[in-house]
Amino acid sequence: MSEAGLDPRRQQWSAGSYDTHARFVSDLAGGVVDWLAPKAGERILDVGCGDGVLTAELRDRGVDVVGVDSSEDFVNAAKARGLDARLMDGEALDFGPEFDAVFSNAALHWMPKADAVVSGIARALKPGGRFVAEFGGHGNVAAIVTAMRAIGQRRGGDLSLATPWYFPAPQTYQALLEDHGFIVRRIALIPRPVVLKTGIEGWLMLFRKPFFAQFGSDARKALDEAIELLRPALCDADGNWTADYVRLRVEAVKP
Ligand code: BEZ
Repeated sequence: MSEAGLDPRRQQWSAGSYDTHARFVSDLAGGVVDWLAPKAGERILDVGCGDGVLTAELRDRGVDVVGVDSSEDFVNAAKARGLDARLMDGEALDFGPEFDAVFSNAALHWMPKADAVVSGIARALKPGGRFVAEFGGHGNVAAIVTAMRAIGQRRGGDLSLATPWYFPAPQTYQALLEDHGFIVRRIALIPRPVVLKTGIEGWLMLFRKPFFAQFGSDARKALDEAIELLRPALCDADGNWTADYVRLRVEAVKP
């Protein structure tokens, strides 16, 4: 299960698996795009653009959009849609003040160096530019994390592999943005239960394979144990799995 030589804390992305198991992520982005209210002719940076499905929607609305992602596979998928997509780490954004808006959907929870992320976003915005984002907020996938931690404790595993994510509370994120000079216009936690059409196993394997891989030949058993722990909370009588997502949505302005 493990890919030799790779940091197990770092997510390895595959555009194909993402399309199979997590297409709902871009499908459910209507709310944050409404908050962005993109206008034709604006120059917008999409941080963590993934395979570019949502970035392409912005382009199709007449936006001059640049997407950045730290996954080569995703950047190639986004380029294949004809996008200006660049390989760049969101924790080390390298832009001057050239964007009317910085946008991000379902990506910032993968960037735990939030201070560096917000610095880079502030640098990339023109004065008066806006930052609009949605990502995992406090309590996101709490049942899933708790189940993995229980398995990790039971089996003497590395619990940090269960939670590589950054899921801040609104007041924490607002304070961070204000520290970087932003004015927060609105910020909210939004519960978003999501039915997993391909089930919980696909989700766990797509997003937390390294956690289970640490158990070597017992990886399959550990996965089955996690699924059984989660079943009463997340699986209904008809066998449908729902992930306990909680979004943090924010709009802030650089004065
Ligand atoms: C999320 O979109 O909230 C999420 C996706 C994968 C892992 C953890 C959280």
